[in-house]
Amino acid sequence: MEMDELSALENEVRERAAGVATQSERDALHAEFLGRKGGRLSKLIAGLGKLPKEQRAEFGRRANDAKLAIESALAQAQERIDDAQLESVLARTYDVTFPPLPPRTGSLHVLRQTLEVVVDFFRGRGFAIVTGPEVETEFYNFEALNIPPDHPAREAMDTFYLPGGSLLRAHTSPMQMRTMQQYSPPIAVLVPGKAYRRDATDARHAFMFHQIEGLQIDRGVTFGHLKGFASDLCRRLFGRSRRTRFRPSYFPFTEPSAEVDVSCGVCDGAGCRTCGGSGWLEMGGAGMVHPNVLRTAGYDAEEFTGWAWGLGLERIALVRHGIDDIRLFTENDPGFLEQFA
Ligand code: DAH
Repeated sequence: MEMDELSALENEVRERAAGVATQSERDALHAEFLGRKGGRLSKLIAGLGKLPKEQRAEFGRRANDAKLAIESALAQAQERIDDAQLESVLARTYDVTFPPLPPRTGSLHVLRQTLEVVVDFFRGRGFAIVTGPEVETEFYNFEALNIPPDHPAREAMDTFYLPGGSLLRAHTSPMQMRTMQQYSPPIAVLVPGKAYRRDATDARHAFMFHQIEGLQIDRGVTFGHLKGFASDLCRRLFGRSRRTRFRPSYFPFTEPSAEVDVSCGVCDGAGCRTCGGSGWLEMGGAGMVHPNVLRTAGYDAEEFTGWAWGLGLERIALVRHGIDDIRLFTENDPGFLEQFA
């Protein structure tokens, strides 16, 4: 009778231990069966004295076996609990089997990439790349460029004036005079940099944009040099089939002056939506350096001639990549920027 109860006890513990999921469940099971006082096994063993003498030794052995079996079932439960606990800690800290995310690496901004193409082109042709201040004086921004105080060209520039009479340069052209004052001819420089104008922002206008000033001064420099550099650069930037056009224009600091256009890559000059029907896309202003500018620099305007231009970096990048809104360049949307990575 008591033997059967031992077997029943053992089976019950095995079954219940298999379903144990938490430490407190396991501890409760341990107390219920193996507790020193009031444990169900202890209670059975306490009844040993009521057994007939000849059965006691046998019962003692069986009770001991049952105790070992119960301990083993509880130990297995404990092992499962410990494993689960370790799993959950590891899952929270580091899962070596998890597939890695592709690293997010940075890349050069599309404007910088575009500039590098232009800079490479001119470095290979012996030009020095120089930069200058964005906070300028009226002298370098205007007077030195043959734009006197009452000249209407000042209005057109919509300049940001700063307290104390300085200003944010409205173009990179101030670097023409700064370069001429610092070096004697021959000069061949490319000046990339920011320019600022009080323009309302839209798809084509920004209060801050980039220009690439070019300036070459030497004996015998002609408009032909300007045309050669401009059309070679356009082919390098946009492809061999692209043509360049020089449209008569006016700038106080050049004579003659021109707008440099490149043929539209979408319609090849026929006129379409991209080029606003004209067949051509504007790249910037250019011309032969005005003798007054050469004289202000102290150069002999009879001996030296030069060409200059101010290309729009944003314009070049728009045309090169078919982008239709210059605000994209400064919004820093990764979805836009990553297309050029
Ligand atoms: N500075 C002019 C502008 O921002 C562009 C320009 C025209 C630059 C003719 C030049 C030049 O160097 O020769 O509108």
